Amino acid sequence: MNQEPKKGFGTANGKIILMGEHAVVYGEPAIAIPFPAVSIQTTIEQKIGPATLDCTFYRGLLQEAPLRLNSLLTAISETLAVLKKSAVDFSITITSMVPPERGMGSSAAVAVATIRALYDYFNQPLEREQLMHLIDVAETIAHGNPSGLDAAMTSGTTPLYYVKNQAFEAFDLNLNGCLIVADTGITGQTKKAIQLIEEQFITHQAATQQKITQLGTLSKQAKLALSSNDKETLGESMNQAHHLLQQLGVSNSTLDLLVDTAIENGAFGAKLTGGGLGGCMIALAETQTDADWIALKLKQNGAKNTWIYQMGANQIEK
Ligand code: MEV
Repeated sequence: MNQEPKKGFGTANGKIILMGEHAVVYGEPAIAIPFPAVSIQTTIEQKIGPATLDCTFYRGLLQEAPLRLNSLLTAISETLAVLKKSAVDFSITITSMVPPERGMGSSAAVAVATIRALYDYFNQPLEREQLMHLIDVAETIAHGNPSGLDAAMTSGTTPLYYVKNQAFEAFDLNLNGCLIVADTGITGQTKKAIQLIEEQFITHQAATQQKITQLGTLSKQAKLALSSNDKETLGESMNQAHHLLQQLGVSNSTLDLLVDTAIENGAFGAKLTGGGLGGCMIALAETQTDADWIALKLKQNGAKNTWIYQMGANQIEK
């Protein structure tokens, strides 16, 4: 008798990296916050006929699409293998508000929501450790050499100070300010950005290591600033981090223009967020009014979308 439930549901958040992207791959700390303004839902329903997968939000992707689909299909087949199930007659439907390849953790979030939905469908409990392992399998395909930060953020609900292979360290954000997130509308290709830095380690080992270490130092400085409401220091750390990421070759002219625009219009600091080579940037402002003004200027200078995150209240608006 088939006792499997007829429906399964899973969800996941996007994420924003405040500091430490790329350096985190090499063991330096990073700071990230969950970003529920953009989320993913996976629904699984029993149906007659072969299993189907609907993830139409990947349609806009061109050269990145095979990698993304491969990562997702691997997450599904690995999960079914762990659950000792075969692809039965079901349909998987994924809806996403996380723009893919924008540094918001889309690939990890798709995997998290879908793995959760499969466990729910087969009515099995899902331990965090097992979830992290399954996401890592998918992320290794999507990113090549993932630090685990995206997996930790998209499967959790708290801001993290994250060091690869160490226990997650949650911390309170005592910063009273507004974070503006702006999407360049350009797909970022995190895997390519990671490879770019790997190549620099081969050609310029010492100089590359120095920049990575400096990025880690900035994450430590930012953590103190976040806990003591020191927006000047946090803003300055963000500017320095963007400069280092530029030198590592993972920024581009659109990100640089938006970072400059934010600073010229009163931000304490600004930087790219996530893998770079496109994707999103973030800026720090004192008040909602300042943030609204900066968001307007960012849109006038090419941002395709902006979000404002009130850090004190942990609220998000579009
Ligand atoms: C991508 O969101 C963040 C990177 O640091 C890669 C990773 O941590 O796996 C660029």
